[in-house]
Amino acid sequence: MQWRGSFVTQQLSIGILGAGRVGTAIGRQAVRAGHQVRIATGKPAGQIQLLTEVIVPGAEAVDAPDLRGSDIIVVAVPLHKYRSIDTAVLTGHVVIDTMNYWSPVDGVLDEFESGPSTSEVVADFFGEVLLVKTLNHIGYHDLEVDALPAGTPTRRALALAADDEEAKQLVAAFIDSLGYDAVDAGPLAAGHALENGTEIFAGRHTADQLRQLLAEYGRVPVSV
Ligand SMILES: NC(=O)c1ccc[n+]([C@@H]2O[C@H](COP(=O)([O-])OP(=O)(O)OC[C@H]3O[C@@H](n4cnc5c(N)ncnc54)[C@H](OP(=O)(O)O)[C@@H]3O)[C@@H](O)[C@H]2O)c1
Repeated sequence: MQWRGSFVTQQLSIGILGAGRVGTAIGRQAVRAGHQVRIATGKPAGQIQLLTEVIVPGAEAVDAPDLRGSDIIVVAVPLHKYRSIDTAVLTGHVVIDTMNYWSPVDGVLDEFESGPSTSEVVADFFGEVLLVKTLNHIGYHDLEVDALPAGTPTRRALALAADDEEAKQLVAAFIDSLGYDAVDAGPLAAGHALENGTEIFAGRHTADQLRQLLAEYGRVPVSV
C-alpha cells in the first residue's frame, strides 16, 4: 500500500532552508502530508519563486527571515556552507539538521574529521536552537517513494537524535506524517550513529531493525 499523505494528525508550519534536492523533496512530502510549507535560500524569494511553484506546488517561496515563526525549520544546505547560514533565522526554533559530511563534496573540514558528531558542531554554531538530527539518512529520491502508512509492518523508520525531548517528539510527529516511523536514537551526540559511513546511513530499516542497530552501535565506542 502506498502512502497517500492522509495521516497527518497535526498541521504544522514547516520552514525549509535550502531549495535543492533535499529541501524540495521534503517540501513536496510535507505539502502532501497537509503541512503549511515555506521555502527559502540565502537569495531573495523572487529568485526561487518559479522553482518553488513548479517543483514544490503548494509551498510558498519566502525570504529566509520569513521562515521565523515556523513550528519546525528544516536546514537542507550543503554542510560546507553551514557557516554562511544566517543563524538569526533559526534562533529559538526547533530545527532539523539534514546535513551530512562527505569530504569529496564538502572538502576536508577539520571540525568534522573527528570528535563530536556533525550535528553537535552545527548546534554550537547555530546557538540557541533546539536541534534534531534526522532526514539525513534517506535519499532525496527515496523520500516520496518509500513512505507508507503507520502500522504497515514493512514501514521504513528514520532515527532522531536530539538533546531536547519536546523537540524530538514534535519532529517525531512530523516524521510520522511524512510516512515513516520515528525511532529515538538518543542525544545529539548519538547522531554519530546516523552519519555517512554507518549501516543506518546506508540502508533501509524498519523500526525494530533500527533499534537493534542503534543498540549495537551503543556497544561500539565512538572513535574520538
Ligand atoms: N543527496 C541526498 O539524497 C541527501 C539526503 C539527505 C541529506 N542530504 C544532505 O542534505 C544537504 C543538502 O543537500 P542537497 O543535495 O539538497 O544540496 P543542493 O541540492 O546543493 O541544495 C542546497 C540548497 O541550499 C541553498 N543554500 C546554500 N547556502 C545557503 C545559505 N547560507 N542559506 C540558505 N540556503 C543556502 C542553496 O541555494 P543556492 O543555490 O541559492 O546557493 C540550495 O538551494 C547536504 O548536507 C546533504 O549531505 C543529502
